[in-house]
Amino acid sequence: MVNKEQIHEKLAQVIYPGFTKSIAEFGFVKEVSIGKNSVVICLDIPSAAAEIETQLRHEISKRLSFLGDFEVDISIMKPKMPRETSSQGRNVLPKIQNFVMVSSGKGGVGKSTTTVNLAIALAQQGKRVGLLDADIYGPNIPRMMGIEDQQPVFLGKTIKPIIAHNIKVMSIGSLVERGASLIWKGAMVTQAIEQMLEDIEWGSLDVLLFDMPPGTGDAQLALAQSLPVTSGVCVTTPQKVALDDTIRSMDMFTQLHIPIAGIVENMSGFICPDSGKEYDIFGKGTTQPLAEAYKTEVLGEIPLEPAVREGGDSGLPITVLAPECETSRRYGTIASKLWECLLKVNEEGGVDNEAIQPTVF
Ligand SMILES: Nc1ncnc2c1ncn2[C@@H]1O[C@H](COP(=O)(O)OP(=O)(O)OP(=O)(O)O)[C@@H](O)[C@H]1O
Ligand SMILES: [Mg+2]
Repeated sequence: MVNKEQIHEKLAQVIYPGFTKSIAEFGFVKEVSIGKNSVVICLDIPSAAAEIETQLRHEISKRLSFLGDFEVDISIMKPKMPRETSSQGRNVLPKIQNFVMVSSGKGGVGKSTTTVNLAIALAQQGKRVGLLDADIYGPNIPRMMGIEDQQPVFLGKTIKPIIAHNIKVMSIGSLVERGASLIWKGAMVTQAIEQMLEDIEWGSLDVLLFDMPPGTGDAQLALAQSLPVTSGVCVTTPQKVALDDTIRSMDMFTQLHIPIAGIVENMSGFICPDSGKEYDIFGKGTTQPLAEAYKTEVLGEIPLEPAVREGGDSGLPITVLAPECETSRRYGTIASKLWECLLKVNEEGGVDNEAIQPTVF
């Protein structure tokens, strides 16, 4: 007689394509039921790619071949396929399901740190993730991901991304000599971004995150014209002087018709390691009203924490080094909320940014 435990045991051996963890470990197995002569298995996976479904069906059928005459019914729930083209009618990377632009009006607020940790958190949740350092003026993703010394491999005209912490990474920092001064003019920025997008062998991905340079300039525009950017994430700090820059960044998303996933409030309070007391170094209470004005939400608050900075400097981000700590947990929650937003945008075909009438602060 067949029982559920046997089936679960077999499913625990089915590795999710592209990862080292099984579909059971990721929590993708939603239901197993056994009938008289049949077994029904329901999975909920984060990829809309047909090849992932095919591989899973094949692997599961193989593992369950011991069932002999039993009928095996595998149903796989997948996200809806995304928007196909940008506002300019283009999509230079059709094998990538979602594009997320991480931006801020102000420099140094923690965009790169947030992008890196969000990318890792998404991969830890079983998404196939790519990360493109689009900060052509000051690329620092290679250092943060610990791949400074690795050279990308060229295959003819195309470039293979470097894999770090289970993420496909590419940065213009890996393509130019370290320390080379990068002075780019508008047209060069657009050209560099478009070329990087087209020449990199990303393969198929569930989500590609873009770490943007600060501000609202040519890089953001080039990206929005080349790709159907699924969502924008705005990173800010709670001090009042960051507010105007954050508003500019939110307005940019609105104008480029990029649905806003939400705001990440970084350096939000400092928890003193000695006393455990929390100090609001950069103030409090500016982000929530801003999110409401743009009909979006605060995705999460990340405290000012030495381990976050050390993670970035050492190439071992906090989400890799201490995945169970409170801050990593928060990155995990932000990643889940972002994913929910991506699913929603693909379901509903985007948000009506025209309807957003930002309040003047
Ligand atoms: N929550 C945090 N706690 C402690 N340090 C942080 C935190 N977030 C970022 N940092 C540190 O602050 C510095 C700036 O962060 P980061 O480079 O991510 O900002 P950025 O917005 O990408 O900057 P730029 O505008 O130059 O691209 C880095 O040294 C980083 O390690
Ligand atoms: Mg940066």
